Amino acid sequence: MNALYLHIPFCRRKCPYCDFFSVSQTSPVFQEYPRLLIAHLRLLARQEQAGPFSTVFFGGGTPSLLSPESVDEILSEVACLFGLASDAEVTLEANPGTLSFEMLSGFRSAGINRLSLGLQSLQDARLKVLGRLHTAAEGLQAVEWARKAGFDNLSCDLMFGLPGQSLTALMADVEAVLALQPEHLSYYGLTVEEGTPFEELHRQAVLHPATEDLATEMYLALDERLGVAGYEHYEISNYARPGHACRHNEVYWRRQGYLGLGPGAHSFSEQGWGTRWEIPPDIDRYVQALREGRDPRIYLESFDRSGAMAETLYLGLREAAGVDEARFRERFGQGVAEAYPVAVEKTVDYLVYEKGRWHFTLSGWLLYNHLIQNFL
Ligand SMILES: C[S@@+](CC[C@H](N)C(=O)[O-])C[C@H]1O[C@@H](n2cnc3c(N)ncnc32)[C@H](O)[C@@H]1O
Ligand code: SF4
Repeated sequence: MNALYLHIPFCRRKCPYCDFFSVSQTSPVFQEYPRLLIAHLRLLARQEQAGPFSTVFFGGGTPSLLSPESVDEILSEVACLFGLASDAEVTLEANPGTLSFEMLSGFRSAGINRLSLGLQSLQDARLKVLGRLHTAAEGLQAVEWARKAGFDNLSCDLMFGLPGQSLTALMADVEAVLALQPEHLSYYGLTVEEGTPFEELHRQAVLHPATEDLATEMYLALDERLGVAGYEHYEISNYARPGHACRHNEVYWRRQGYLGLGPGAHSFSEQGWGTRWEIPPDIDRYVQALREGRDPRIYLESFDRSGAMAETLYLGLREAAGVDEARFRERFGQGVAEAYPVAVEKTVDYLVYEKGRWHFTLSGWLLYNHLIQNFL
């Protein structure tokens, strides 16, 4: 396992659309959390064959609520216990409403070399609908500070299909984002997640996200505009300048092993056909297990050959690079078309085989959730 994910399950305030696992920063566990993660790393170092890590990802929740000193301590411990490659990609997710120049400089000095900034939009009306902590001006300020602090690998999280957002408004937002010249962009269509305040408002017909047709139009317009601006649409929701794809997420999509710490995090071992574990999304349970020196993971699933084949396609077809036929055949003893003759036939208008690889077309990505069912 060469990839490490650290879940930081705290937010200053919960955004009404989000179902990522996090609790309030006022939780009594917040102050203790960096120590807990370090205790967990030490426990794993005794049990696991992992590292040296070539990617580390502080995800959330809101990792930018950690102090730079805590990030520094955690990374030093990671390097000492498991090893950290000299060219490791070390990402931290940051909410612009939680930052200062000093903090960003501190994160950079601590070894963070990729910043993923949750801008969401550069229009105040959109940020207000989303209940974000920050204004557009504060988003711009955060980017300026990040550059000044030395971040030369900057990713921005953005959303489209928002209530009241027209295609014209989205494209104006895109121009403002492009002016910042980020190395990487994640553009997510708003999903109304179960159990969130947005779901309740949607049910009451108070909240009106983009219609499916408008969301499709937006997705295609984003692909075109960002392509012209030099970004490669390398995964369903992700765009990067050449050489700036997120190496950590590529580990997930390629079904390589990773270790996840923190409540809500998953781990995956490539041994055999693959095994996955989860740390239950429950802070108190996590604290309790670590205080007792117990592994907080629970076993989730072990794959058999057919499960591993299906997941290889499920994850791999999210990437523009798709799935390599020769490697698939080597691993599973069958090519994709042999293993899935019916699925390949049914998705023929959207699935391309070229240069030894299978991938979906752009229209295929739009129908991804539907098309991929044929392989599962
Ligand atoms: C863990 S958050 C990023 C870091 C930080 N917590 C923040 O919000 O700035 C991951 C990203 O997922 C996206 N996201 C969360 N909920 C979403 C939803 N319901 N629909 C679409 N995108 C969503 C947002 O773009 C968000 O920045
Ligand atoms: S979008 Fe980010 S800041 Fe908002 S609740 Fe989710 S994890 Fe927290």
